[in-house]
Amino acid sequence: MIQIFQGMVPKIGQKVLITPDATVLGDVSVGDDTGIWFQCVIRGDVNWIEIGSRVNIQDKCCLHVTNGEWPLLIEDEVSVAHNVMLHGCTIRKGTLVGMSCTIMDGAEIGEGCLVAAGSLIKEGFKAPPHTLIAGWPAVVKRELNQTQIELTKNIWQRYVKYKDLYVEEGWEYSTSNAAGHDSPQFPRNQSILRL
Ligand SMILES: CC(C)(COP(=O)(O)OP(=O)(O)OC[C@H]1O[C@@H](n2cnc3c(N)ncnc32)[C@H](O)[C@@H]1OP(=O)(O)O)[C@@H](O)C(=O)NCCC(=O)NCCS
Repeated sequence: MIQIFQGMVPKIGQKVLITPDATVLGDVSVGDDTGIWFQCVIRGDVNWIEIGSRVNIQDKCCLHVTNGEWPLLIEDEVSVAHNVMLHGCTIRKGTLVGMSCTIMDGAEIGEGCLVAAGSLIKEGFKAPPHTLIAGWPAVVKRELNQTQIELTKNIWQRYVKYKDLYVEEGWEYSTSNAAGHDSPQFPRNQSILRL
């Protein structure tokens, strides 16, 4: 379900699959070839949410923001596994956020990281690129090994194919009715916007 909120229309790229039971509302943009899976809630009602291309947001994820303070940025080729909570944070390109993680306001996960399943990333935590982050609360463990790098890459690549498989089965790519609509947006903070 793609919902307008206070005139703000979600912007949806090409070949994007949003399952009908997922909710995408307000100032949200979604890049090409991204999949948003069953029962996700992505609520851009009080700040903006930007999701890059070839991203997968798996089942039952909850994405939200903080009014006037913390938008949410997810760069290209990120995987967000099942049941993750992302709130007002930044996830850089190619990172895998493992199942059931919580990432809080102002946190930034660097490029090509792996956040281990079940981790809690506290407010304002900064993770350097290409590292394994794990624990409750999480700490930086070490640089990723080759197996972990492969896992991270494989998941986003597989998910680009999975959503196309669903379309072959009769599901439809999602479109928003943004065309011709003068949709207002929350102000973008250039220091964190890198898409
Ligand atoms: C991180 C992960 C890949 C394990 O990798 P690994 O190479 O076997 O890691 P290791 O067992 O060598 O652990 C490295 C360190 O991280 C810790 N660790 C690993 N997984 C952890 C987890 N989920 N929570 C907390 N700590 C964890 C280990 O205890 C170890 O800590 P130490 O060095 O202080 O002893 C795995 O636990 C994981 O989270 N996978 C993601 C699964 C997922 O969500 N997939 C998406 C499904 S579509």
